[in-house]
Amino acid sequence: MSDYQKLVEKARSAAALAQNTEELSGARTDFLGKKSVLSEAKKQLGLLPEGERAAAGRDLNEIRKLIEETFTDRETAIQDEIWGLQFEAERLDISERLESLRRGHLHLITQARDHLEDVFVGMGFTVAEGPEVETAWYNFEALNIPDWHPARGNFDTIFVDLGDPEEVMLRSHTSPVQVRTMEKHEPPIYIVAPGRTFRTDSADATHLPAFNQIEGLVVDNGITMGDLAGTIDSFVQAFFGSEVKSRLRPSYFPFTEPSAEFDISRPDGSWLELGGCGMVHPNVLLNCGIDPEEWQGFAFGFGIDRLVAMRYGLDDIRELVINDARFLRQF
Ligand code: DAH
Repeated sequence: MSDYQKLVEKARSAAALAQNTEELSGARTDFLGKKSVLSEAKKQLGLLPEGERAAAGRDLNEIRKLIEETFTDRETAIQDEIWGLQFEAERLDISERLESLRRGHLHLITQARDHLEDVFVGMGFTVAEGPEVETAWYNFEALNIPDWHPARGNFDTIFVDLGDPEEVMLRSHTSPVQVRTMEKHEPPIYIVAPGRTFRTDSADATHLPAFNQIEGLVVDNGITMGDLAGTIDSFVQAFFGSEVKSRLRPSYFPFTEPSAEFDISRPDGSWLELGGCGMVHPNVLLNCGIDPEEWQGFAFGFGIDRLVAMRYGLDDIRELVINDARFLRQF
């Protein structure tokens, strides 16, 4: 019997030494196969006196069972190890992934611009674009601002040293895209045109010399001031939520008649001026080859940076351009 115990011990250490399934099945054959000590012993049971055979047979079976268990246990352990290694190799390190997500994302202004486009596209508008360097025709004249017009002075225009003096400039608003669109397309027109605009303003908490506007233009039959007010209201609600209200105040722009400024309500009940709007001036339609007797339109334009500042409660608009990662990362 003590020989058998030794056999079990040996089988245990052989199993423990096996590093993979091949080695293990080799060891298993050594201890349980046809040529193993156990099998030999079984064959020799018949040589025992009859009275001892049954007990010896039971012992052998017991030993065999123990050894089988030893190998099964080791097999499970080896399989676990293999799976463990595989899991380790295929593991997704979530913390690493968060780190890489942090490496970059769209700038707050770009996010706002995309969001604005989405809201207007949802209202049936398409997105138009125009160049950042413009001629006096597009930036002023076609918009009913001839060169003697005092409104030109309001735009603090940055001129480019090209062509006649004050002939080429960085666009001071996105309104020239209205003209470019009407020149190219017949009504009905429903567009928004977001983009960068430039003025000689020095940067402070509420101004940037390079800023962003979004322009809207609708030209169709029977368009009224009511359509303008309704469009602005729907936009404000879609962008800010239904708690925010909008209002129009009479104002003056050369390219619209009548003209208005539109404000949105702040949580404290005060109003924030967002932009200008109005019914497209008949001269502007004529300048673009559209018959004002047949078509009417409205237009609006407002600053995206201001909108972002209001939406996220920034008290200095320069935060948007100084590229401080600690600021940018928050959005
Ligand atoms: N272009 C104007 C500005 O930058 C804003 C504006 C006012 C745009 C009225 C419009 C409009 O389309 O109808 O100050």
